[in-house]
This record gives sequence, C-alpha cells and structure tokens, in this order.
Amino acid sequence: MNQIRDVRPLHRSFGAELLGYTLGDQVDTSEAAALRAALDRYSLLLLRDQDVTDERQVALARAFGELEPVRSGLAGTAARLIVLSNVAPDGRVVPESATAAMNNAANRQWHSDSSFREVSALASVLSARRIPDEGGETDFVSTRVVWREMPESLRARVRGRVAVHDLRFSRARVDPALASTVDPLELPPVRQAMVRRHEPSGEPGLFIGSHVSGIEGMDDVEARALLDALTEFAGRPEFVYSHTWRPGDVLIWDNRFTLHRGRPFPADAPRTIVRATVAGERSSLREAV
Ligand code: OGA
Ligand code: MN
Repeated sequence: MNQIRDVRPLHRSFGAELLGYTLGDQVDTSEAAALRAALDRYSLLLLRDQDVTDERQVALARAFGELEPVRSGLAGTAARLIVLSNVAPDGRVVPESATAAMNNAANRQWHSDSSFREVSALASVLSARRIPDEGGETDFVSTRVVWREMPESLRARVRGRVAVHDLRFSRARVDPALASTVDPLELPPVRQAMVRRHEPSGEPGLFIGSHVSGIEGMDDVEARALLDALTEFAGRPEFVYSHTWRPGDVLIWDNRFTLHRGRPFPADAPRTIVRATVAGERSSLREAV
C-alpha cells in the first residue's frame, strides 16, 4: 500500500519529508487526502528518490486540484507542465540574456507562484530534472511563521491592506525586455489581501512577494519601503529552509503560505526543472485580520 509511513522535519518550524510514499501513475482519493492534510500542516513537502516522469508529476499535482494553464511566454508541455531550463534544444546552455535565463534570474526574488493571477495558485509541484553541481538551491519560508514572529509595529502597517500584484513588475526588475514577454491583456494587475487566514489552523499568513507593484492607499515610496522591510524580515536566515536538490527530489509547496526563491548557480551549468502549478480556489480567498 502506498502510504506516508512517517515524516521528517525539514526546518524547525515548517516543512516535512514524507517517508514511504512512492510516486505512481495514479493517486487514489485516500492518498490525495493524506497529501493535502500534510500540505496544510507543513506547507512544504519533500519526496526523495522518486522515479519522476511527466505523467507521474501531473498525477501528483492533480491530487491537489486542477492545473493552471501555462502562461504565454513560458515553455510548457501539452500536459500543462512548465519547463524552466537554461538548456537549448541543441543541448547547449543559453546565454544569460536569453528569456529562459532571465526567467531564472526573476525567480531569484522571493515570490509566491501566480500571485499575479486573480485567483492565485494553491500549490506548486517541482521536480529537478537536471541540477548543477553547486548552487541552484531553492529557498523557502513559511509566511505563517513569519507573521507569528513579526513585531507588532510591522504587523500594524500591513493589517487590512491590499497589495497590487503584477507579473510585469517583477519581470521589469530583471530586464524591461522580460516584462515585454508578458501580455498585459492576459495578465492584468490584480488585488490581493496582504494577510491571509490559513484554514484549518486559523493562523494568519503574510502574503507578499516580487510581483507586488504597490499597496492601495499608499504612495509608491512608502509602499516600497514597507515591502522592502517585510521582505527583509521574511527572508531572515532563521526562517529559511534552503533545499539542496538531489536527483529524484520532488517538492510540493503551498503558495498561499510560503514564499520561495531560486539561488544562483554558475551561468554555464545546465539546470532543468519542471513545475506543475495547482490552481487556487476562489472560495478559499478569505481576508484575514
Ligand atoms: C519555480 C521557482 C526556483 C528555482 O519553479 O516556481 O521559483 O529554484 N523556482 O528554480
Ligand atoms: Mn516560483
């Protein structure tokens, strides 16, 4: 029987490696319920030593819900997987000016996947297919833990606020040419509460990230200063779990209650990761505090 036998913590305050679970071509409903319960509890799940195929990765992601479409400007597969790779079809590593490499650079900012969508993503399922010998880790923080540890003075500046999320903003920070790969009609700016309530625990979580272009009712200078302070606080080393990828690793994270970022790796090192993004549910968008 394919069951989660045990869990091993990844960080003292969140994240768990699931032991005993093996990816297969199907995930039955009791397995799906156990996976979802683990995600709700730990926010970040790791499966090691898996024999990953596109089909298995899709089956795992579908256990959490529908997959988001791959947005235009990104390489994808028919099965709605996003391929983030700096390797060209001829096998060579693309130059840093290539869109694919710039997208990797953009992912080095703390973010939540698809926070720029009106209904932002529930989860992401990421498998590393080709990993550099050094660098290329993926860092995570739990935004519930961040909120819990945040000084009241900082919380007070966030409560009740709405942020504007815009994919073109985070792309423009890397290169204006990257922003122009995003169609503003496909992905217009959206509003998101800056604090979300986690069900079933009832805990609040901070909801920010690189796509935030501004805060409603705040001028740009003040908003940027607040966002910088929040991002700096959230990224404090004691909150961060940094994942060093091994072949066969699969990570699942809750985009509603974590932030993540890619870490640098040598520009000439090939790296290919494949992501399935699970769409969020409008009904789960509950503003908090
Ligand atoms: C992602 C992402 C970071 C990385 O795939 O959503 O942000 O380490 N990846 O490549
Ligand atoms: Mn991401």
